[in-house]
Amino acid sequence: MKNTKVVISKKKVEEYPGELLVTLVAQGTDNKIIGDKLLDPILKSLQEFKEFTAKKDQSIQLFPSIGQFGGLLQCKRLLFIGLGDITEISDSKNPNEIFEILRTAGGIIAGHCKKNKIENVGVYIPELKKLDDVVVGEYVAEGILLGAYQFLKYRKKDEDVYPGLKKIEFFTHANKSDIRQGVDRGLNSALSTCNARDMANEPGNCWTPQHFAQYAEKAAKKLKLKCTILEKSNMIQLGMGGILAVNKGSEEPPKVVILEYNPEKNTDTVLLVGKGLTFDSGGISLKPAQGMMDMKYDMCGGAAVLSAMEVIAKEKLGVSVVAIIPSTDNMAGGGAVKPGDVITHYGGITSEIENTDAEGRLILADALAYGIEKYQPVCVIDLATLTGAVIVALGHHHSGLLSNNDKLAEKLIEAGKTCGEPLWRLPLGEMYVKQLKSEVADLKNTGGKSAGCITAAEYLHQFVGKVPWAHLDIAGTAWDFTEKSYIPKGPSGVGVRTLIELFRQWEDGIS
Ligand code: BES
Ligand code: MN
Ligand code: ZN
Repeated sequence: MKNTKVVISKKKVEEYPGELLVTLVAQGTDNKIIGDKLLDPILKSLQEFKEFTAKKDQSIQLFPSIGQFGGLLQCKRLLFIGLGDITEISDSKNPNEIFEILRTAGGIIAGHCKKNKIENVGVYIPELKKLDDVVVGEYVAEGILLGAYQFLKYRKKDEDVYPGLKKIEFFTHANKSDIRQGVDRGLNSALSTCNARDMANEPGNCWTPQHFAQYAEKAAKKLKLKCTILEKSNMIQLGMGGILAVNKGSEEPPKVVILEYNPEKNTDTVLLVGKGLTFDSGGISLKPAQGMMDMKYDMCGGAAVLSAMEVIAKEKLGVSVVAIIPSTDNMAGGGAVKPGDVITHYGGITSEIENTDAEGRLILADALAYGIEKYQPVCVIDLATLTGAVIVALGHHHSGLLSNNDKLAEKLIEAGKTCGEPLWRLPLGEMYVKQLKSEVADLKNTGGKSAGCITAAEYLHQFVGKVPWAHLDIAGTAWDFTEKSYIPKGPSGVGVRTLIELFRQWEDGIS
């Protein structure tokens, strides 16, 4: 939540008078609960009950003022959250697992607050062996903010609504400015993810290409980015036949939104492209009614790229990034593109439209070709809710990753693991390109029944050639993502944190 205040308290945790104090406890051998020594007396008593053993994701709430512990703490409720056996995990040298446990704990805290309508929470970072306080601050903060997310904009008459978290107070024995830095990193990535969720939650009539453009212009002003909006007239001049074709059945003008970030030191440029399809009816190849409402989320790739850009600029990361969001809706108006029509993409490749519902690749192809020619990037990453086929392949648990460059693919996979947005790589290959052969044009826009996620990626591949490129098909994860405490129902904001993580640790990039 944007208006949640997050502070690192200078006070002692014993004096926190709030509604709820939360702390983390780990599981030792013989189900022993291991926590901060300040809370030892409480933990010793709790141990006797055996129903709470600090297993991962287990939690228990106590009321410290009732019974023998009155006086030890001032808070009204005390919530313990189990982390499981962290010794084993930290010894296995896989920090990502700990990050996810902490993020999940944050999500559990948020869920507890939502359920009990608690607006202020204290979080006590315990002194525990094997647990780094700064890491706890970063990921618990991230998890709380991600988990506390709500979209209430259009629920005007609901009086029973929980207004959200007002304030989070961290208590720590560690260096407060270190914790502040960690927490701020967590907040940046969580809040920008929530931003992307906000854009996605907006209905198709309230979030049009125009809104993408306005949002980007505002962000550019605030963060000193360069913003360019290509209007329909520019697209006609440039020959962006893909996006123009998709837009033909619509009353809303298309936009191509471009944001540029340059750090002080000159560096190579990375190009990001995000699918900004503000509503996908399928066009003349109309989708069935059931589930069509979800197609307002077809702009999640664009939202992710735009939101990540804001953090890249805010944290002044050391790499030049250009983000391009081709945006239109896909409607079936009288002028709409038809099956059998032939279009010409930016750069001259022609394509026969077999199915107007395979529109994402049409708008992305123009953006990729244009962005590569104009900005000469060292590599390109695109994010798109591109195919239903990726859901058949990977369900809602991994985003699909397709790439012509192993180093870039590995970097993305690693970033995805670190931030809890797993990617699974699928192959590319000439055999799949054959499925896109047309009798009348260079390509057709569908590749038949089999390997739909791969043929869609191969379509894009034709427009990037040898430039290192990675495509993230987020159709299965942009909403209905694997249930997690820190991902409420609705759009997940997937991709934002993967991109942030990637650029935070970019260093020498893919060279
Ligand atoms: N936006 C959809 C993909 C999609 C489907 C995302 C379901 C999330 C959930 C895309 O534009 C689309 O319609 N793709 C078609 C391609 C087909 C016609 C080759 C699809 O996947 O059915
Ligand atoms: Mn479609
Ligand atoms: Zn689509």
